[in-house]
This record gives sequence, structure tokens and C-alpha cells, in this order.
Amino acid sequence: MATVELQGVRKAYGALTVADGIDLSIGHGELVCLLGPSGCGKTTALRLIAGFIAPDAGAIVVGGRTLSDARATLPPERRNMSMIFQSYALWPHMTVAENIAYGLRLRLRRQPAAEVAAKVARILAVTQLEALRARYPGELSGGQQQRVALARALVVEPETLLLDEPLSNLDTNLREEMRFEIRRLHDAFRYTTVYVTHDQLEAMTTADRIVVMNTGRIEQVGSPEDVYLRPQSEFVARFIGGTNILHGTVDGGVARCGPMTVAWGQGAAAAGQTAISVRPHEVELSTDPAEGENAFSGTVMRHTYLGAQRDYLLDMGGDITLRAVTPLDTVLPVGAAVGVRLPRRHCRALPR
Ligand SMILES: Nc1ncnc2c1ncn2[C@@H]1O[C@H](COP(=O)(O)OP(=O)(O)OP(=O)(O)O)[C@@H](O)[C@H]1O
Ligand SMILES: [Mg+2]
Repeated sequence: MATVELQGVRKAYGALTVADGIDLSIGHGELVCLLGPSGCGKTTALRLIAGFIAPDAGAIVVGGRTLSDARATLPPERRNMSMIFQSYALWPHMTVAENIAYGLRLRLRRQPAAEVAAKVARILAVTQLEALRARYPGELSGGQQQRVALARALVVEPETLLLDEPLSNLDTNLREEMRFEIRRLHDAFRYTTVYVTHDQLEAMTTADRIVVMNTGRIEQVGSPEDVYLRPQSEFVARFIGGTNILHGTVDGGVARCGPMTVAWGQGAAAAGQTAISVRPHEVELSTDPAEGENAFSGTVMRHTYLGAQRDYLLDMGGDITLRAVTPLDTVLPVGAAVGVRLPRRHCRALPR
């Protein structure tokens, strides 16, 4: 295992800056998720760490050793890292078990065959691939191939494990199961792991810390609870968990957002512009007019039944809409006038 540090890492493709001065320090045995929308530079960051590409500036330091900087880059095969690519590459002429054993044989040349077999058997069991061990990749579904790729990366017990969307081809159930599985394996082996995903639930379930990325930059780093409960920017609040954002101007301790005057109980806003974030499930609806602080009236524009909840879109006047997710017993027809309360303690002021 090793610490992984990115120090002022920059990378550009022509005019496009894909890593814009990334500073990040990943602890020994820590699992960090890089989370962000498509094209924000997650795969690029992983390829920089793995040594497939070299930074234009800055350095990548692993276990205290500089492996990449603008002058020299240690090639990937000399880094003791396992990487699963977004498009996992399996050997088509090898069975599942042979694919998994292959890397192990390469890396551990002197290892007795029995030991290789035992390790392969163990990882086949963990990834639920025993029944498929004699199949060829061409005889597997996309999700099964992905599990083989995962097994192959884990079996070599790397110092650093780099995973690029390892679960993207799995169906919802298997994906959920594999998320817990990855976390369980991590707790067992504690490889220093960098896990790239654009799925926030995946990041929440697996990560010690989440790194939220946006256009080649780090927006925020924190525990899953930190980034959800204490987003530091509008981008993070929207990306992690989804939220309503009301843009307004600070005026005497409240924010004037169009026709709405909102008091906040979290975050900080100086004079000037602010964005107030309030999660859809914190918005309270009633058939009676709402009263007191942060009480408004709105009109139901859309109602969606979600099975366990209801999802409402509300017209608040002045071109402002809000989403509210309510318990099932809050039944309000489209067109109804409703009382809307935004409990102050759930309103968070963010810088603009
Ligand atoms: N070799 C390359 N040459 C030119 N541009 C590239 C190259 N590789 C990546 N890019 C661009 O850099 C940006 C970041 O790409 P990257 O693959 O890191 O995104 P990502 O965050 O992994 O996205 P996704 O979630 O879609 O996989 C994109 O705009 C992409 O088109
Ligand atoms: Mg990618």
C-alpha cells in the first residue's frame, strides 16, 4: 500500500485544460472516489496517476517517491498498480479463470501453481464467478465481463487500485451488491484505492472521502456526510443529492429571491449575491396557507408518484419553481394552491 499525492497537476489537450492544478493527498489504505459529471477529467486524473499520460506541470508522488512530473514518467507496468479501464479489456482467448490467473502469474512468477489456484478460487468466490470460470469473455454478458475485470485487478493485491467506473455496465441490483462488495473487499485488504464514478450513490457507499470534480478542478473534498450535509458550492449541492437553488441578494440577514424572502440557518453569505440551497425532501407542503418564517404560497405544476414518495414541482411566482419530495399521504392535485414552508435550519446559504 502507498500514499498517493497529486501536487499542482496540470494537463491540457490543446486549448482544453483537463486537469487544472489538482492538489490531492490520498492516505495509505484509503478509498477515495473521484466524482463528477461526464468530461470533468476523472479518467484523465486516473491515467495520470497510473502513468499512461504525463502531467504538463506538477507531480505525482506515490509512497513518497515522485513517479511523474513534467520531465519524467515511470511507465505503468513499473508502478505496482492495478487499473480497471472504463472499457475493460479481457483476453478473448482465455477463460474467466485464466484471465484472472494471467496477471497473477506475470507478477508472481515464482509462486507455486497451487497458490495461484487458491487465490483465483478465492477471488472467483468473492466476485460470484465460480459458475462461469470456464467460459470465454465472448460468452459473458457485459456485467459479467466487468466482474472478471474487477476480479483480475483484485487478485494481484496491488499497492494501489485504480477503478474507472467499474460498475457502469451492471444492472441496478448487482450494482448495489457490488458496491457493498467493493467496500467489504476494501475493508479486508485496504488497498489505497482511487475510484472514479459519476454515480453519487456509488461514491457514498464506497468512499472514505469523496472528491467532487468540475471541469478539471476539485470543487470539494470530504467524507460522504461532509459533501452532502455541508456543500461549499452550488455545484456540489446540486451534484450531491440534488437540491433547489434560489438566487438572491443578501439584505439585512435574509436573502431576497424574487418575490420570496428567505432566512437561512446554515452556511454563510456575505453582503451581495447568494444562492440558497434547500433539498426537495425538506420542503414542507400543506393544503392550508403556510405561516411564519420562510412561509410562501405556490401552485402545483406537476405531480409524480414515485412509489415510496411523491415528487411535486411548484410554481412560486416570479419564474421561480421548487421541487418538493413528500410522504405518500401528501396528495395535492395539479393546479392546487398550496402552503410551502422552507424550514430555516434546512436552508443553506452558499457563495455565488
Ligand atoms: N487524448 C485526448 N485528446 C484530446 N482530448 C481528450 C483526450 N482525452 C480526454 N480528452 C478530453 O478531456 C476531457 C476530460 O476527459 P475524461 O475522459 O477525463 O472525462 P471523464 O470525467 O472521465 O468523463 P466520463 O464520465 O464521460 O468518462 C473531455 O472533454 C475529453 O474529451
Ligand atoms: Mg471517464
